Amino acid sequence: MTKKTPLLLLILFFIISCGSDDDCNTTMTTGDLSSIPYNPTSYDLVNPVGFPSMLIPADNPLTVDGIELGRHLFYDPILSADSTMSCSSCHFPSLSFTDNNKFSAGIDGVEGTRSSMSLINIGYVEKGLFWDGRVNTLEEQALLPVEDPIELHNTWTAVVAKFKVHPTYPTMFRKAFGINDTEEITNELAVKAIAQFERILISSDSKFDKVHLREEGLFNSSEERGFDMFFDKGSQGSGLPDAECAHCHNEPLMTTDEYFNNGLDSVSSLLEFADLGRGLVLQDTFENGKFRAPSLRNIALTAPYMHDGRFETLEEVINFYNESSNHTNGSNVDVNILPLNLNQSQKEDILNFLHTLTDSVFTNNPAIQNPF
Ligand code: HEC
Ligand code: HEC
Repeated sequence: MTKKTPLLLLILFFIISCGSDDDCNTTMTTGDLSSIPYNPTSYDLVNPVGFPSMLIPADNPLTVDGIELGRHLFYDPILSADSTMSCSSCHFPSLSFTDNNKFSAGIDGVEGTRSSMSLINIGYVEKGLFWDGRVNTLEEQALLPVEDPIELHNTWTAVVAKFKVHPTYPTMFRKAFGINDTEEITNELAVKAIAQFERILISSDSKFDKVHLREEGLFNSSEERGFDMFFDKGSQGSGLPDAECAHCHNEPLMTTDEYFNNGLDSVSSLLEFADLGRGLVLQDTFENGKFRAPSLRNIALTAPYMHDGRFETLEEVINFYNESSNHTNGSNVDVNILPLNLNQSQKEDILNFLHTLTDSVFTNNPAIQNPF
């Protein structure tokens, strides 16, 4: 490929995408966007009952136009080098924004080594993003997939060039951020918009929310038993065994957002984990093999499970916590990981409780679907 090819492609792209559209030609020839009204409407984010307040960065307040731009960018394959993949290729709304693969493959078919993560209530995650917490903000995170060779394998320079000659994006950037000229479109603004969209991915309409947090309706008796074991309520009268789950997957978000070794790997030394996880990020051997405890909301929709997608079903996960022989291996396995001695019907009760965390109001919410 010669150096001239991308420019040629760009010109071609402009001709194809703009065609006889007058607005587009005006935008393109002048680059001046100042005649387009800029009246940002702030988006009123409502923290659901029982939830903490979401921290919104002061330099990226939510606006209706910013979120709409972010939604388009999230679903638009324009972000990938060959225009075949978008963020949503690995984060499907119907699967609570995961995919159903053990590992996800990017545009070149190359697989990563970790399983895609649910983006549910992602705006409430404050102690680091990704399985190992290596990134702090949604803005910072959204910069990465575009240039990741095993994801969208593009360059931001190429993507921003495409935005500048696009029939609708210059106007959308103007409405979202008040820029005066197409030349002011940047990757920083694009990731701000994506982060705004991600912050509205709020789920609070599961049966668990209704029954437990809002006191509407009741669990059935199996779900109730599962709830009691999950939250270690046995000593309060039911006499059921503790399943210890809530130490790490606590309400209301169903995660503490802390990093633990939950005993997946059988190792004889802390240097042996196949994936060092948090240890690599902190450069601290004692943190090796620790990963972020993910939210269990919509967990029935997000198989396969764990950072490496090793379990295909929730039954396997529950069996693992109940029986795994790895629990005692490795000196940094958390103290709350211990044989639970649940019988078959108690394991089913936990499973039934986990199903109360499914929120189809969230997955079907029209405001978060593909706009194209
Ligand atoms: C090829 C598949 C793929 C594509 C494309 C992709 N992601 Fe991801 N995403 C993943 C995987 C895998 C992880 C977990 C990676 C890790 O922990 O190392 C992840 C993690 C994340 C997280 C962290 C979630 C959490 O709970 O910490 C966010 C946010 C995210 N992706 C957003 C995006 C956005 C925005 C885009 C588009 C710009 C995108 N992803 C494109 C596969 C993908
Ligand atoms: C000591 C903390 C801890 C306890 C106790 C714990 N977990 Fe976890 N859980 C984690 C961590 C950490 C992960 C992610 C591990 C990884 O991928 O390496 C996880 C992952 C999971 C996953 C997979 C999530 C996903 O998105 O793939 C499920 C399901 C789960 N736990 C359910 C439970 C249940 C049910 C219980 C109680 C029986 C429980 N956990 C107890 C820390 C814990």
